[in-house]
Amino acid sequence: MPYDFKSNLNIKDDHLFIGDVDANKLAEEYKTPLYVIDEQKVRSNYQKLYNAFSSKYEDLHMCYAAKANTSLAVMKILEDEGSYIDAVSPGEIYTALLAGFTPDRIVFTGNNVTDEELLYAHQAGVMINLDSISALERLSKIEGTEGKEISIRVNPMVEAGHHEHCITGGPKSKFGIKEEEAVEVYQKAVELGFKPVGMHSHIGSEILESEPFMLAVETMMDIAGRVHKEAGIDFKFLDFGGGFGIPYEPTEDELDLEVFTTDIIKLFREKLEEHDLGSPAMYIEPGRFLVGNAEVLLTRVNTIKNSYRKFAGVDCGFGTLLRPTMYGSYHHIVVANNMNAEDVEEIDIAGNLCESGDLFARDRMMPELKEGDLLAILNAGAYAYSMASQYNSRPRPAEVMVNGDQVDVIRKREKYSDLFNGQQVPVRLLK
Ligand code: LLP
Repeated sequence: MPYDFKSNLNIKDDHLFIGDVDANKLAEEYKTPLYVIDEQKVRSNYQKLYNAFSSKYEDLHMCYAAKANTSLAVMKILEDEGSYIDAVSPGEIYTALLAGFTPDRIVFTGNNVTDEELLYAHQAGVMINLDSISALERLSKIEGTEGKEISIRVNPMVEAGHHEHCITGGPKSKFGIKEEEAVEVYQKAVELGFKPVGMHSHIGSEILESEPFMLAVETMMDIAGRVHKEAGIDFKFLDFGGGFGIPYEPTEDELDLEVFTTDIIKLFREKLEEHDLGSPAMYIEPGRFLVGNAEVLLTRVNTIKNSYRKFAGVDCGFGTLLRPTMYGSYHHIVVANNMNAEDVEEIDIAGNLCESGDLFARDRMMPELKEGDLLAILNAGAYAYSMASQYNSRPRPAEVMVNGDQVDVIRKREKYSDLFNGQQVPVRLLK
């Protein structure tokens, strides 16, 4: 079934509403470009996914992949919901601690980590999930790691994801250790004095079918089985990463959570039994699923240009939302001040940066656009603000959070002076 964006939006009198607030009022008051996140949507996404899994396997830890959206207020909401955190850098550990997550609710899965980063994670007291033999060896040299509980990331050789850049399993992936060396690496971890208690894998992002997940679970459970049998490891948790997709295009369908979780948990339980793995906790690491559809980016059309093609030019670019440029990603776009208008023509929606690739949409069927129209770019909650930059010396936008009829600024709009944070001009150049 194709995904009907309109029926999933809140529309009143031709206007788009976020919670109980008119998007047009938000744009007037807080200016554009503006990120608007709906608190209740984050909460309901969390509950939906959590309940779907935990109703079938109780010992479930949902570790929010913070990289999707690191706004402190968002992290705080997920903390309140009972989430755990998947952190990929000391900065994300720091953010999670600041948002109130206790260290036992944080799993650190870094890639190509330095000794300093390992030390930081160790001192912070979070679970460290090691991505290479090098990191394992280097962690063992840090004082006080004797007897430490750790986890290891394995590449289950399953490839999935919406774009080549977002595939994290398989032969080309830089993540994890080879599956055939898993037993050896766990044995080595024990020799180095660690207590390995977890195994991790993550195959990719924005996956809307269950087959790759099923394959990854099956492969990882078989690897865990071998490691249990041959290296004598008793697992406290098995972490299957994230990747749960959401519809971005009207042609896409939602993941059927009920069927999906039923199949996954059935397989998980069968494999636990087959390999005599006991009843470890199941960890998952959703990012996009929790926040992706909870936020929109409001941007105003300032220029209609009939060049060799027709363009609607807006007041932000790929520094504000990178996904269309970086991955060619489709983001559905609606006219927040004219929600009931019919689509009448194909148009390019272009950003304000000096690069030809700065387009939010090419040949998109839209209502007739006018200068002053307010566009809402949907599904801008995941990998959106967290990937924003100041390219072209354009300060990053503000972000507000709506809860019913309540609105709070959760990120102030940057000022021109913020473009120089941390910069210094050598004194000899000052005249
Ligand atoms: N766990 C690990 C180890 C990850 O690397 C990721 C995402 C996740 C969990 C969460 O994946 P999710 O549930 O959000 O799919 N910037 C790209 C996505 C990159 C994902 C990186 N890793 C995009 O905009 O599509």
